[in-house]
Amino acid sequence: MKGLSHPKNNVTLNPSGNESIRDVIGRVSMKRRRFIMTAVGASALTVLGDVTIGGLLQTVEAAPVPAGLGFGGIGFKSIPPNLLNPATGLLEKDLVSVPPGYKAEVILAWGDPIMPGAPNWSPDATQDAAAQEKQAGMHHDGMHFFPLPGRQFLSRPLASASAYQGQTYRRGLLCVNHEYTHEEILHGSEGLLSQVTIQKVRKSQAAHGVSISEIARARIGNSWSVDRNSRYGRRITANTEIRIAGPVAGSTFVKSKKFDITPNGSMEIGVNDGYTAYGTVNNCAHGVTPWGTYLTCEENWNGYFGKNNPSEGVASVPGVEEADIVALQNRYGITSTGFNYRWHEVDPRWDANTNPLEPHLFGWIVEIDPYDPQSKPVKRTAMGRFKHESAQYVVDDSNRLAYYMGDDERNDYIYKFVCSRPFNPQIRGANRDLLDDGTLYVAKFSDNGTGEWIPLVYGQRGLTPENGFRSQAEVLVKTRMAADRVGATMMDRPEWTAVRPRIGGFNEIEVYCTLTNNSNRGVGETSVNQPDGSTRAGSARPPVDAANPRPDNRYGHIIRWREDGQRVTATTFTWDIFVECGDSQRTEPNLVGNINGDDFGAPDGMWCDDFGRLWIQTDQSGNGRGDWVNIGSNSMVCANPNNPREVKRFLTSPTNCEVTGVITTPDGRTMFINIQHPGEGAPASNPTQFSNWPSTQGYGPSGRPRSATVVITRNDGGIIGA
Ligand code: FEO
Ligand code: CA
Ligand code: CA
Repeated sequence: MKGLSHPKNNVTLNPSGNESIRDVIGRVSMKRRRFIMTAVGASALTVLGDVTIGGLLQTVEAAPVPAGLGFGGIGFKSIPPNLLNPATGLLEKDLVSVPPGYKAEVILAWGDPIMPGAPNWSPDATQDAAAQEKQAGMHHDGMHFFPLPGRQFLSRPLASASAYQGQTYRRGLLCVNHEYTHEEILHGSEGLLSQVTIQKVRKSQAAHGVSISEIARARIGNSWSVDRNSRYGRRITANTEIRIAGPVAGSTFVKSKKFDITPNGSMEIGVNDGYTAYGTVNNCAHGVTPWGTYLTCEENWNGYFGKNNPSEGVASVPGVEEADIVALQNRYGITSTGFNYRWHEVDPRWDANTNPLEPHLFGWIVEIDPYDPQSKPVKRTAMGRFKHESAQYVVDDSNRLAYYMGDDERNDYIYKFVCSRPFNPQIRGANRDLLDDGTLYVAKFSDNGTGEWIPLVYGQRGLTPENGFRSQAEVLVKTRMAADRVGATMMDRPEWTAVRPRIGGFNEIEVYCTLTNNSNRGVGETSVNQPDGSTRAGSARPPVDAANPRPDNRYGHIIRWREDGQRVTATTFTWDIFVECGDSQRTEPNLVGNINGDDFGAPDGMWCDDFGRLWIQTDQSGNGRGDWVNIGSNSMVCANPNNPREVKRFLTSPTNCEVTGVITTPDGRTMFINIQHPGEGAPASNPTQFSNWPSTQGYGPSGRPRSATVVITRNDGGIIGA
C-alpha cells in the first residue's frame, strides 16, 4: 500500500557519508564478498555504530546457502518496462502487459456483483453500503484459488495435491483481500473529505475485508468469468461478526464496548464477551491451510482508529492498565487522526480513547472456510498480533505445520508459528482448531549467516510480570513489545513470505521474505526499538547489519533461510540475501544477485509456484518518476531461485497502481494477479486524471479507475512461466 490513507515510507534522508557506508557494506554483503580491512576509513566505521570489525569479518566468511535443485526453468520472453512518457507526464501504457503468447483478461473489479441480488457496478459511484456489501470490495490484495468441487479438501481422507496434478481446473472459489479504500474514488463526486457521514463510512467499511466469488472457465472460448448468482458468493467486511480463538480469547484485553451496528449508526449496548469481534480491516496479504481454508492478514489496522477528543486521554477499563494501553497505541501507531478515514467521527466503535480495548481486536490472522458460506470467520490469536503481511506454511516430513510471517513496519520483525499438534492429513475436521495452540517465534539473524528462532513464551526470556507480561495472552497482544524484549533483528519492512516447493530432489525447507524498503536504516542518529516497547511504530533508526545491509534502503531486498535439519520445529537456521533490488543503470556497486536480469525494486508480493519459479511483485510509487525512471511502473518478475541473476520481467502495470496477489490453478495453466489502486491520487472531481484502467483494457464502463483481478493464460494452453 502506498495510498493517501496509508503511511508513506518514501521519506528519504541523505546525511553526508552515505556513500562511504555503502561502499563498506557493499564489501561485506553475504555471498560473494571479501572484506579488505585496510580499505575501511575511520569515518565510515564511526557511522556504522553497532557493527564491529569482528562482525564484518564473520559476515564475509559465512557460507552462503548452497544452490539446490527443483526448478522448472523460465520459458517466456521478457517484456520491456512501462516507462514515464515525459511528454504526457504519464506512463507510456495505461495497461497490463504480458509476454508474447500470453493473454491478460480482467475478471473481477471493485463493485462487480458476486452474489444473488447484487446490483451491477455504477460508474458514478453513488451506490450505497447495501450494494457494496454484495459486490467485490476495493483495492484487491492477497488472493487464493480454491478448486471446486474441492474433493481434495472435503472428502476423507484428504487427498494429496499430487493426486490432482494432470487435471484441468475449470471452476473454483476466488478469495480476494480488499486491503483499503481510496475514499475520493469510492464516494462519487463528493469524495469523503468534504463531509463525513455514517452512510459514507458504512460504504467504506463494506468495501474492506474479503470477497469470495465463484469463477468458472467457459467450454467455448475458454474465458474465465464470475458466477454472480453463486451460493458461495460472500462478503466479509469491517462489520462482520467474527469469533476470537486462541490464548487471547476471553481475556480482559478484548472485552471492548459492544455496539448495535446499523446502517445509520452504532449504538453502545454493553461489553463484548471476549470471544466476539466485529470486522476485519486492511486485509493485505494472505495464507491458506493444507485443509483448504483461507487466512486473511490484518496489516495497517491502526489507521482506522482515531480520537475525537485527544486531550481527554483513554477511558479507564477494568483489568487493563491505562499505561499499557498508551504504550500499545504508541508501539502499534495509533494516533488521533489515523489515516484520515474519519470512521471514528461518526462510528464511536473506532474511537481509541473512548473504546480503548477495540484496537486489541485487530492485528490478527483470520481463518475463513470458503467452502462453507455459513461458517463464521475466526481470529487466530496464537499467531501473534502485529501488522500481518502474508502467512505461508510448510508441512514437514513429520506432518508438523509452521507458518512464516512478516510484520510490515520499518524495523519490525519476521515470525514463525509452529502448531503444537501435527497436521492430520486424513480428517479435515481434526485440524479445525490447530492454529489455536502452538509456539510463536521471532527471528534473530546473526552476522555469520546463521539465525535463531526465539520463542515468545510467557515466563521465558524476560517475558515476565516485572516487564509487563502477565500471561501468554498479554505476550500475544503485545507481540511487538515481546519481540523487542527478546532481541529480535529489526528488518527493512518484512512483506510477503514464500516457500520453495520440495520437488525434484530439493528437500530443504527454504523460505523467502521480501524486505521492501527502509528510509530509516543507517541514516541519522542511531536508535533502536527499546526493550520496554516505548519506541513509536517505525520511528527507530537502526544501523545497517548483515541482514539489512543498505543505508536508506529505497529499493529493498529479499532474504531467505533454510531450517536446520529440514524440520519446521528447528530453532536455528542458515540464511543469505537472495537479491538486492535496484536500478542497474545507476551506480550502486556490489549488489547481490540480479546482475544481468531485469531491474525491479520495492519487492512486496511473492510466491513460489509448484515448479519452483519465484514470482516477485513490486509496490513502489508506480508513476515512473524519481528513483523509478529506468524501472517504470510496478511489475511482476520471475526469478530462478538457484540463480538470482536470472530474473525476467513478466508483467507491467497501469499508472499509479501496485501489482499484488498471485496464484495459479493447481494445474499451473491459469494465473490470477491483482492490480491495486490504479490511478491513485486523483481527486473526486477528476477520478480518471491518472488512469482509466481497466476500461482501457476493455473491461467495464469508463468513469473511474478500479482495482481488479486479472486472469493470465497462454494462447497454447500451456503452464504459466514454462
Ligand atoms: Fe499491504 Fe505491506 O503491504
Ligand atoms: Ca503493498
Ligand atoms: Ca503488501
